[in-house]
Amino acid sequence: MATRSMKVRRCGVVMIEPREEHELDIAGLFAGTHAVRARVKLVALAPHAGDEIELDEAEVAALGRVGDTDWIDRDALTARVPEAVIDSLLAKGLFVGDGEADARMRERDETVRNVHWKPLSAVAHAFSRWHEAGVDEDVRITRHRTLTELIRESGPPPPHITSRAAPEQRQSLPEPRLTAIDAILARRATCRNFDTAGTLDLERFGDVLKRVVGCQAEVEILPGTKALKKAHPSGGSLHPLEAYLVVQRVAGVAPGLYHYHVTAHALEPVATLEPVALRDFAMRCVAGQDFFADAHALLIITARFERTFWKYRSHPKAYRAIVLEVGHVSQNLYLTATELGMGAFVTAAINEVDIEQRLGLDALRESPIAVLGFGPRASQKTMLEFDPLGEVWDGDALKASTTQGTARRHPPSA
Ligand SMILES: Cc1cc2nc3c(=O)[nH]c(=O)nc-3n(C[C@H](O)[C@H](O)[C@H](O)COP(=O)(O)O)c2cc1C
Repeated sequence: MATRSMKVRRCGVVMIEPREEHELDIAGLFAGTHAVRARVKLVALAPHAGDEIELDEAEVAALGRVGDTDWIDRDALTARVPEAVIDSLLAKGLFVGDGEADARMRERDETVRNVHWKPLSAVAHAFSRWHEAGVDEDVRITRHRTLTELIRESGPPPPHITSRAAPEQRQSLPEPRLTAIDAILARRATCRNFDTAGTLDLERFGDVLKRVVGCQAEVEILPGTKALKKAHPSGGSLHPLEAYLVVQRVAGVAPGLYHYHVTAHALEPVATLEPVALRDFAMRCVAGQDFFADAHALLIITARFERTFWKYRSHPKAYRAIVLEVGHVSQNLYLTATELGMGAFVTAAINEVDIEQRLGLDALRESPIAVLGFGPRASQKTMLEFDPLGEVWDGDALKASTTQGTARRHPPSA
């Protein structure tokens, strides 16, 4: 029996998706009329609730009658919403009560509000996360479709280039000049062939972290408020990204999970895992793509949303800016690893939920956006890489020039 003095309001963020489902219709199949039956269900996407929630029409109507700001006396609400619907929406966490029974959902709802998520971004973030994808399947069989198959199923892709003016209207640009970075850009190729027998030396491991996720300066911009200067740009200069490492084969570093401390330029242990568990976690990180899980070190890039949303509150561009920022980090990793004679990769096909659980993260506050990886390449190529000019591979053999790094020590600081 509900407590009469209870107060209720709607959760802060919920969106409704009318979703058509197709199911096998055995009766129709035998009658020879139709094999598949379509049904439209109403799905609530509420980031604080975690899972998708199916609703009926009365529940959807009730959500439209109750605001998310003021607390309403439950007795008064029964004039607008039937008792049974109030109960079911409270049970589903889409109405939030002020009593002890609703404390957990209320706290989750308050997190969405306090982190200052833009509703569209919160829904996109919460419901694009994977859990255990690629764990019990061979991704090469289930996900890999050849170009020929894709074209057969979907027709040709949109054209690979576009043009907006007639050729005679084009203004030609000077012949491009070549500088040192061109050689690095030319050798950059997503690595799917890591050297699984060897280890990565500690020097290059540290160099990569310093350049890619480290900082060059920590500045007190106002009394008590500090900001970091890093190699990549950051929306509002807030630098919300964090780096965690799955260290598998790095000389002088015990295999395990670490957090990178950005100003100390040091590893902080998060968990020590047995080799089998570590490999299993690496595979989960990259959703079963074993050629990426083979990297000597994986770099999990998470975002602390609160940090960016502190300035850009409920802002339509804030989440997008964070995702863009990870792209900059990724390219810096590719260039740094290439310059140091190593391979690198980035993937967005990641099991965010498994990573959050292992690192103890609350997805509404901090969550992984991409997983990167780096390390020396194998001497022989077994997995496909895109190297049309033969800058990295000579047939299936690694070119010697690919492995030549040009690092030298920083001068000792004064
Ligand atoms: C955001 C992003 C996600 C990617 N995810 C994957 C992935 O899951 N698996 C994979 O094999 N490659 C992945 N790639 C690498 C692309 O397949 C690769 O960049 C593309 O084939 C071009 O090759 P290149 O990087 O060597 O030029 C990803 C690239 C980007 C930018």
